[in-house]
Amino acid sequence: MSQATFTPRVFSGIKPSGGLQLGNYLGAIKRWVDMQAGDYENIYCVVDMHAITVWQDPKDLANGTREVAAGMIAAGIDPAKSVLFNQSQVAAHAELGWIFNCVARLGWMNRMTQFKDKAGKNAEKASLGLYAYPSLMAADILLYHATHVPVGEDQKQHVELTRDIANKFNHDYGVDFFPITEPVIDGPATRVMNLRDGTKKMSKSGDSDMERINMTDDADTIAKKFKKARTDPAPLPETVEGLADRPEARNLVDIYAALSDTTPAEVIAQYPGAGWGTFKPALADLAVEKLAPISGEMARLMADPAEIDRTLAQGAEKARTIAEPILAQTYEIVGLLRS
Ligand code: TRP
Repeated sequence: MSQATFTPRVFSGIKPSGGLQLGNYLGAIKRWVDMQAGDYENIYCVVDMHAITVWQDPKDLANGTREVAAGMIAAGIDPAKSVLFNQSQVAAHAELGWIFNCVARLGWMNRMTQFKDKAGKNAEKASLGLYAYPSLMAADILLYHATHVPVGEDQKQHVELTRDIANKFNHDYGVDFFPITEPVIDGPATRVMNLRDGTKKMSKSGDSDMERINMTDDADTIAKKFKKARTDPAPLPETVEGLADRPEARNLVDIYAALSDTTPAEVIAQYPGAGWGTFKPALADLAVEKLAPISGEMARLMADPAEIDRTLAQGAEKARTIAEPILAQTYEIVGLLRS
């Protein structure tokens, strides 16, 4: 079968659970802003239906959704250039998600490491939605025939599952309908780690606020968190190779590189052998310089929730014009009667 050609199209998403933190910005949003400059159509989604795979307080969910959208806009996602919306406003995500639940195999789902990590020892009590999460994610991506998905290292397995689903669908129905999407994993900060434990990902839901930098933290808080960040006692190495097996040091250098649009090697060349007493304050100053304008703009946008809601409604409208014909063709391929 000949491989159909697909318009280069980028899709990515962020969950609105808790506030935005530095890992979301460096690992996702900042890279999406860069992708907007390329020859792609860009679709960015606040994935609220993924958020409810674990309990979300209804009081906070809508505002959390607005806050993630505000963070994206403040950081430079332009709703006139990119399609920006929240997932639950485009019903086709759930509809295609169901079809993919019937394509994905239990054996595939059982290999998903994120489910195992999140469900932990209590997997019997996890929601069915948490188990099916990667299948809904495949629907997010393939509903737009997206060809490229910028994600962090931890999402690579889910994009591989998306490829497996596309291949099986195409094969079972004898069509060449869904593209085989490429994950785009690059840059120094595809995995921003926890400031108290360099082997764990920085997350919004971790126990201690000291382990993450929130996009809304003020300058003093940012300085304090970097100063208290856990490291080994050795100073920075003379060359980047010296960061191997030093996860906390590596993480702080990666964060510096991502914030300054350089590479870890360039950061080490700038601070060879520097002690933490020099490097941590420099990192804090850089973070404040880069994040303060974004958090200021986020606060300004959040003061007018109705305006954010209008932007998301317009984005959802644009998303539906791409998604609905693809869903309709999928139903036809599957043989679901539309009378
Ligand atoms: N699972 C992603 C995360 O936790 C979020 C997400 C949902 C996503 N759907 C997506 C990312 C589609 C990329 C494409 O980070």
